[in-house]
Amino acid sequence: MTTIDTRPLRTLVHTAGAPEGEWWRDAVIYQVYPRSFADASGDGIGDLPGVTSRLDHLAELGVDAVWLSPFYRSPQADAGYDVADYRDVDPLFGTLADFDEMLERAHRLGLRVIVDLVPNHTSDEHVWFQAALAAGPGSPERARYLFREGRGVDGTEPPNNWQSIFGGPAWTRTTDPDGTPGEWYLHLFDSRQPDLDWEHPEVRSEFEDVLRFWLDRGVDGFRIDVAHGMVKAPGLPDWDGHVSMIEGNEDAGDVEAVDSVSGAGNQGPMFDQDGVHDIYRAWHRVLAEYPGDRALVAEAWVEPLSRLSRYVRPDEMQQAFNFAFLATHWDAPALRTVVEASYRASDAVGAPTTWVLSNHDVVRHASRLGLAEPGSRPNGIGHGDEQPDEALGLRRARCASLLMLGLPGSAYLYQGEELGLPDHTSLDDDLRQDPAFFRTGGAERGRDGCRVPLPWASDAEGFGFSPTGVTWLPQPAEWASYALDAQRGVPGSTYETYRSALQLRRESALGSGGMEWLHGLGDDVIAFVNRDVLVVANLGPTPIALPAGAELLLASTDPTVGDDGAVHVPSDVTVWARYTV
Ligand code: NOJ
Repeated sequence: MTTIDTRPLRTLVHTAGAPEGEWWRDAVIYQVYPRSFADASGDGIGDLPGVTSRLDHLAELGVDAVWLSPFYRSPQADAGYDVADYRDVDPLFGTLADFDEMLERAHRLGLRVIVDLVPNHTSDEHVWFQAALAAGPGSPERARYLFREGRGVDGTEPPNNWQSIFGGPAWTRTTDPDGTPGEWYLHLFDSRQPDLDWEHPEVRSEFEDVLRFWLDRGVDGFRIDVAHGMVKAPGLPDWDGHVSMIEGNEDAGDVEAVDSVSGAGNQGPMFDQDGVHDIYRAWHRVLAEYPGDRALVAEAWVEPLSRLSRYVRPDEMQQAFNFAFLATHWDAPALRTVVEASYRASDAVGAPTTWVLSNHDVVRHASRLGLAEPGSRPNGIGHGDEQPDEALGLRRARCASLLMLGLPGSAYLYQGEELGLPDHTSLDDDLRQDPAFFRTGGAERGRDGCRVPLPWASDAEGFGFSPTGVTWLPQPAEWASYALDAQRGVPGSTYETYRSALQLRRESALGSGGMEWLHGLGDDVIAFVNRDVLVVANLGPTPIALPAGAELLLASTDPTVGDDGAVHVPSDVTVWARYTV
């Protein structure tokens, strides 16, 4: 007798790896933004003792590692991404001893620690830049940065037409010691963040030394800021393109376009130059001198994905944030395309994919996904702007997070997303601190809305962020319901859903698993099998019945049971189900 096979069709996208591979291949890494995580000193700004005091929370949540944004000595012109001393802790955040204590406690809890390295630029208060200003044109001190003569009569025009990512020209003119206008220096970001010249051997050796300084202290890795920016095209040629972090995934929907192997990148002469890879090969060798699989993660806003994967070739970095995924709109075909293109690109070089939905530079995904164009990426939201639908945004954010955590590879969580936090979307403009707000004359609200101090306790002042109740940015009153103590132990809360997901992910080794599309559930559905877990995300309006044999494990929001007795996945919900069919 002939039987008809009624099982849905599957297509293999990514083959499972060994569960016992290097830790960074499948780690869930939690981003701590120190000034907004927890404040122990009471000044309203988070600090390292605050981080230490809350590490238990991260262990309980079930993450594998922590990445800390910069806590080094800095005048804080760009919230610490302007480093004045790479080997010391800013008094705002504590001391080196506080760092050591934090690291020791994290390791005791089984959490690895990644620190942030900012090599593209220093602070204008760094001794090298101060020496360069004092020494004047043509000096060896100036050779460590990108000083140039201006163009036009008397050099009054900047040396080229590059724009700062924060708005305005990427050049600032100096004043010579005798008071006359002098050379210009390049800054891809704020004028207080002069770009280093990475052709200079001393710049290269200095940063290898900085790596060793933190490796010797015991850190497990580094997140590399602007990893695609350090080497510029020779001659610094004019460029009329638009410099930005990538805007949105216009090509999504077409694996070939997203993953074009021949793509030459789209970022102009200041980004993604081939020479940057020599730096990472050298750093790879530095890390390899240390035991225990130390790792580098690239913050590189590079397209297409095949170009990004060059940063994670076997002799370069270990991970690169997948911003193409973060930038994709709330659209199932587009997301399927970017997921498939991501595996194609990273598998080609034997690296893990590194998923991320939120960080300190973008509107949180709970807010992005509540916009009329869900997943679009304004640079900040303020008074007078379209306000996200908070409930819908949260529902979709949970859906997106369970989708991400079901995928093989590594994943980064941004502090507060485990609480379902939205952005502060109505912050007073006079409280804003992001240089992007000022350099664009307020046209861009900037990133303060995603950097608001975390709510820990619903009925404490400042929601328990600091012992005095002071917070450096105000928290919206509605955040009481998002506080950790309002969610901990509450079945179905965002926090408990993340915790269950991380536990299941670990038990089922999903991070090192494989990925097969499961077809037949409709175009609005993203469905795949990872080991024996079926993940179904329904982005369409109609509930979808789980296939026969699927046994519900976890849902981002309650599923429903149909008349047929089958579990139905409603709109904007992801479920995980045991599936051995
Ligand atoms: C990327 C960082 O994530 C961002 O916060 C910073 O402003 C720029 N790089 C410049 O360092």
